[in-house]
Amino acid sequence: MRLLCALGLFLALLHVTSCLLIGAFNNQCFGDRKSQDNVVMNIIKEIVLRYDIILIQEVRCNHNLSVPNRLLALVNEGSPQFKGIVSEPLPLGSTISHRERYLFLYRYQKVSVTDSFQYTDTVFSRPPSVVKFSSTQTVGKEFVLISIHTQPTNAVVELRALVDVVKRAETKWLNKNIMVLGDFNAGSNYVPMYTRPTIPLFNTTVFQWLIANNVDTTVSRSGNAYDRIVVTTDMYNGMNPRSADKFDFKNAYGLTQAQTEAVSDHFPVEVQIL
Ligand SMILES: *[C@@H]1O[C@H](CO)[C@@H](O)[C@H](O)[C@H]1NC(C)=O
Ligand SMILES: *[C@@H]1O[C@H](CO)[C@@H](O)[C@H](O)[C@H]1NC(C)=O
Repeated sequence: MRLLCALGLFLALLHVTSCLLIGAFNNQCFGDRKSQDNVVMNIIKEIVLRYDIILIQEVRCNHNLSVPNRLLALVNEGSPQFKGIVSEPLPLGSTISHRERYLFLYRYQKVSVTDSFQYTDTVFSRPPSVVKFSSTQTVGKEFVLISIHTQPTNAVVELRALVDVVKRAETKWLNKNIMVLGDFNAGSNYVPMYTRPTIPLFNTTVFQWLIANNVDTTVSRSGNAYDRIVVTTDMYNGMNPRSADKFDFKNAYGLTQAQTEAVSDHFPVEVQIL
């Protein structure tokens, strides 16, 4: 992965190209309390700094933008490099205490947001936010990220509907470079194997699943690959699929189980695009 990135950087000297690391992190109950815990926030900061674009889920600040603002201020301390795009509290119209926001943080010198829309279908407990990015590293290279965090007990139904979100983005922007990322809850009994043929996203002619079933994305070592990255074949052709993995920040930063759990019950998942 590093070698490929180095190769990408070498090519960057010849052409204008470079790789981007994209991550998705279910940052369990990320609300006012957690965002005021300095120890936890410094770990989250390190995680964010690893990425060029990171989707953060379970952002819980439904009356204002206190949580994204605190995180942005922290990661930009000293040298400003990130901007954010945050959804309304979702689902729209539900009891406000049960809503959550999606937050994308991105390095604005490498990518910019060129358009976005909020999907509103009520089948989703947290309807996807759809964001189109343009890479400043490669002239004219645009791609679409679709966030998802399913309700575990409704995961199969929500996963079936995701193909409609992909189609909407594709039609709206005439762009087939599309990635769906987040906590799919695509493990354990939530999404049993026998349901997979009924989920269009599992059609391997059209989509590639980059995080394998045996990648445990939970901190508790439950053995479940809940968090996933799924891309269209077009997007797949412009990436390094072998770089797809979870980011075990417990090992990487030498944290104890308790320190890790204070941050989240999930590890981020990530992939490099070239
Ligand atoms: C944001 O809303 C919370 C209540 O959810 C409140 O405690 C906090 O003071 C507000 N922060 C700002 C900056 O307005
Ligand atoms: C998968 O997608 C292709 C292309 O759209 C389609 O022709 C094929 O019927 C699909 N396969 C299944 C099992 O739905």
